[in-house]
Amino acid sequence: MNKPTDFARMPVDHDDIDSNNSSNEHFSTVLQTRLSRRNMLRGSAATAATALLGSFGLTACGGSDDDPVTPPTNPPTGTTPPPAPVEKLLGFTAVGKSLADTVVVPAGYTATVLYALGDPLTSSTPAYKNDGTDTDFENRAGDHHDGMEFFSLSDSGGVSTTGATRGLLAMNHEATTNEGLPSFFVHANGGTNALPRPALEVDKEMALHGLSVLEVRSNNGKWEYLKGSNFNRRVHQQTEVQISGPVRGNALVKTKYSPDGTKFRGTINNCGTGRTPWNTYLSGEENWAGYFTRSSTDNAARGDKSVASLNRYGMSQGASSRHGWETGGVDDKYQRWDISKKGTSTDGTDDYRNELNGEGYIVEMDAYDKTRPLKKRTALGRFAHESASFGRLTAGQPLAVYMGDDSRGEYIYKFVSTAPWNPADAVALDRIATGDKYLDSGKLYVAKFNADGKGQWIELTIANSVIANYANYKFADQADVLVNARLAADAVGATRMDRPEWCAVNPANGEIYYTLTNNSNRRVEPGSSSQVAPDAANPRSYTDMKGSTAQLGNSNGHIIRVREDAAGSTATSFAWDVYLFGAEAAADAARINLSGLTADQDFSSPDGLAFSNSTGICWFQTDDGAYTDVTNCMMVAGLPGKVGDGKKVTLSYPKTDGSTLSVDTFVGKAASADTLKRFLVGPVGCELTGITETPDGKALFVNIQHPGETTAAANVGDASKYTSQWPANAGYGAGRRPRSATLVITKNDGGRIGS
Ligand code: FEO
Ligand code: CA
Ligand code: CA
Ligand code: CA
Repeated sequence: MNKPTDFARMPVDHDDIDSNNSSNEHFSTVLQTRLSRRNMLRGSAATAATALLGSFGLTACGGSDDDPVTPPTNPPTGTTPPPAPVEKLLGFTAVGKSLADTVVVPAGYTATVLYALGDPLTSSTPAYKNDGTDTDFENRAGDHHDGMEFFSLSDSGGVSTTGATRGLLAMNHEATTNEGLPSFFVHANGGTNALPRPALEVDKEMALHGLSVLEVRSNNGKWEYLKGSNFNRRVHQQTEVQISGPVRGNALVKTKYSPDGTKFRGTINNCGTGRTPWNTYLSGEENWAGYFTRSSTDNAARGDKSVASLNRYGMSQGASSRHGWETGGVDDKYQRWDISKKGTSTDGTDDYRNELNGEGYIVEMDAYDKTRPLKKRTALGRFAHESASFGRLTAGQPLAVYMGDDSRGEYIYKFVSTAPWNPADAVALDRIATGDKYLDSGKLYVAKFNADGKGQWIELTIANSVIANYANYKFADQADVLVNARLAADAVGATRMDRPEWCAVNPANGEIYYTLTNNSNRRVEPGSSSQVAPDAANPRSYTDMKGSTAQLGNSNGHIIRVREDAAGSTATSFAWDVYLFGAEAAADAARINLSGLTADQDFSSPDGLAFSNSTGICWFQTDDGAYTDVTNCMMVAGLPGKVGDGKKVTLSYPKTDGSTLSVDTFVGKAASADTLKRFLVGPVGCELTGITETPDGKALFVNIQHPGETTAAANVGDASKYTSQWPANAGYGAGRRPRSATLVITKNDGGRIGS
């Protein structure tokens, strides 16, 4: 008797996975060696901690361009007329924590829904009914709006870098809401919870993933999107994407669809974003592995090193897929999601055994020109990408692109271009060719954070004998190093971080900020290879209560920042500290709330992160499950200082054998009411993500992702049981099913956002 296969792993949080079982976590060994030496000199770790408190001695870098972003102050008055009132950044009143099913912004601000799941992108596409019967998602907004960038248009519709009333929003559609059932809010009855999946459901779900480009305009301050604009575009799972850079044509990416290894279909689970200095869109492919399936006997079928690669990227044999798309039918568009070795070819051109090697890149798109191909920029490495953020530009110097790998215990990376920056390229007419110039050739580095507040960028190159001779995987060439960047990073001993999410560069001083969202596996005494001991850059492991549930590890996350040494983009060493530690305001200030957060500032699990080029404000957003008994996810505005503006702190952890693990860390200057304020709280069950603005800083666009995700799948069809009815309850659109949506935030007096 054949029983339909249940989607047993559906409830897994696919944003919360790890597959790094390398031994690189034992940074604490180095630390303890160092502390032992100190203990011999000073008597005990506790004494040492007291003696060293406040002695964090990073050399402050000089020069006016290193100054933190501070509000301008009025000059002294004299005989000249008094100056016009000066805008005070963070002058708004902080919003309180909220569990309401609404978007809360400060007094004087307005948040308006602009573009929600299912909204039509062509004039001929019908309005969204929002009852699960809608189709044609290739011409509608996808689901789970995520990272997003604004591209200015001039009044006449030309490419612009300054236009502030007309432009394009390019955004990621990361995923669909699928607790218990597949993508349940987009199917009339909640969808089919059994294999095989109906083709029509699979087609709809595939189309809901990808990217959107849409034109937006302000009519006298009222923003709207233009559903019939010729700029509008959807990228989905049938869109052809070029494989570009060193991996193009490599044996590792040859498939039945692309026997020469040059192209791929679609881009999936797109999370963070970036924009290039030449005005194109960058999209990070994050938790792509979960969409594929692999047979339980595939290791033997393969019998080669690809098994080690698949294991390291979270696809051990027998892994089932998130949605069962491979069961949609015999068509190739369904079969590609099964990466088991099925064919008899030696090179994989008769099946999809290599398909997974085509996912996991930074993808470049020209939002202004939908006739141009998308390109997977393989030189930037393959992992669970989030944002891609460019370092300060210096004419004649290579470009640096900063990136993180979002899984528990993964790494932080930097790409350095071969080509030196030519400022004329900022207005290049062929933007994709400019991408070829800067992003297809360069060096990839991984970060190692040391206990002394310094760190190294280690190049991932086949020329390094440690990589070439790595025992766990035999790299064939540099393309193999890029495809298997995680394995190369394991080989060189990179530092395992608390899930790197977005990164962003402070325009005031060029320092690079990384959100580290949380890590439930950070443990004082690791009990398995997936658990990691606290280290200087990931120093906290504690117990946080959520109701009666104990949450272990680093539940609240932190934001680390890096200052390159003198060589700038090409530096191989840096200084670092922790800008902020997420925490509940009431948590122990000596062990958990190390940044001294108050009730107006406290947050958990930072994720989205961007600096305003207009105000210099550091915006960050939360994707939290730890503090959600007290507040929905939120967005916070900060005015940070710089690396080294705080102090050294030593955390002491008692161990079961009676000894103490002491971890030094470096905490940035404590937050104050003038430098950190909660700006927005979202509706129930959502995360906040995506941050972009008009060049004048007067319109801020953010995304509300998966409101109502906490609804039990069995309750689809009974609106009274949805945990969220947003944005319908804000007066937007038909139906009561919750929808991911883009907000535009404006200030009622027409001022810049965050003032
Ligand atoms: Fe899609 Fe890393 O959050
Ligand atoms: Ca708690
Ligand atoms: Ca994210
Ligand atoms: Ca996240």
